[in-house]
Amino acid sequence: METKSIKAYGTTAPEADLNAMQINRRVVTTSDVEIEILYCGVCHSDLHTAKNDWGMTTYPVVPGHEIVGRVSNVGYGVNKYKVGDLVAVGCLVDSCRACDNCKDDLEQYCPEWVGTYGGFDKHLDAPTHGGYSETIVVDVDFVLRVPENLDLAGIAPVLCAGITTWSPLRHWKVGKDSKVAVVGLGGLGHMAIKLAHALGAHVTLFSRSSNKTQDALDLGADQVIISTEEAQMESVMNTFDLIIDTVPYAHDLNPYVGTLATNGTLVVVGYLGPIDPMLVTVPMIMGRKTVAGSLIGGIAETQELLDFCGKHNIVSEVEVIEMQEINEAYERMLKSDVHYRFVIDMKSI
Ligand SMILES: NC(=O)c1ccc[n+]([C@@H]2O[C@H](COP(=O)([O-])OP(=O)(O)OC[C@H]3O[C@@H](n4cnc5c(N)ncnc54)[C@H](OP(=O)(O)O)[C@@H]3O)[C@@H](O)[C@H]2O)c1
Ligand SMILES: [Zn+2]
Ligand SMILES: [Zn+2]
Repeated sequence: METKSIKAYGTTAPEADLNAMQINRRVVTTSDVEIEILYCGVCHSDLHTAKNDWGMTTYPVVPGHEIVGRVSNVGYGVNKYKVGDLVAVGCLVDSCRACDNCKDDLEQYCPEWVGTYGGFDKHLDAPTHGGYSETIVVDVDFVLRVPENLDLAGIAPVLCAGITTWSPLRHWKVGKDSKVAVVGLGGLGHMAIKLAHALGAHVTLFSRSSNKTQDALDLGADQVIISTEEAQMESVMNTFDLIIDTVPYAHDLNPYVGTLATNGTLVVVGYLGPIDPMLVTVPMIMGRKTVAGSLIGGIAETQELLDFCGKHNIVSEVEVIEMQEINEAYERMLKSDVHYRFVIDMKSI
């Protein structure tokens, strides 16, 4: 297959820094869209993947799945987009399109879904490479339209941080009478607050310290509970219909389960792995409470969110960085020193 060599930034080992590298992109096929990348958000999953936290990284890896850009070329069969259109790509670039999940617009749960990076690229017979790069070539069905009224850097994180919190908010039918809590104020957490607030819910942030209290209130939270203060945790027992837990590392879920109302759900979107310490079933049984998980969102749901953000003027709070600052950005992310998403200006590559 014909390919083009382009500039990218990636890493070759868990302990190595990210550095400039060349990668191949396919030349557009009939159903493809080629996108010149303008901005790419920096997700904690990029860091987990670069450092092989989940033990399944294939190197070299080029992270990045919060991609906004302009169409630079389209295949003959593509009518939906033309050169110059403002478009986006999130965490998915392909799926089988035939299974029940695909038919139900839940491509993220398709057994054959292809991640934007680290997935299997059937065209090149190699791992897919993400948005820390000049361009990307994606099948038209996985390309999203971006409202023109929004800040371009600010909209990038909607493609992962946004949809990952939007999908549970929609699935658990959050609306005006809902009481929602968010655990952790980072990339996902700040989008969760904004989106839950825009849906009319009463929103609480659980954070480890009071450092981010004013920010959370400014983002749309109605109250902040410091998770390390027992009295504060006690004050919200049996309260929430939905808790979205965005914390990236193993932590005790039991105190949060206690704050769910009867029939409430704690949905874990952050940490991937065994729950430690173990869950005590008593509050679940005594209050029909659920602990669940959720993965990003499907293509139709992501388009719904982009349109919702366009209508309600919602974007992420971003700190725009140059590509060469990515290693420092990862260091700061590990210290929770992000306000509240790094976004790379891809001109700098
Ligand atoms: N399920 C999915 O589909 C999906 C999609 C995207 C990302 N993710 C995952 O979601 C997690 C969050 O991603 P993100 O980009 O929002 O990360 P982030 O910006 O780094 O935010 C994580 C937040 O969690 C809190 N936290 C609590 N304990 C922590 C600890 N020991 N170390 C660091 N932070 C801690 C911090 O908030 P406070 O300071 O307020 O406590 C921090 O700001 C990651 O694990 C990522 O891989 C999952
Ligand atoms: Zn992500
Ligand atoms: Zn499928």
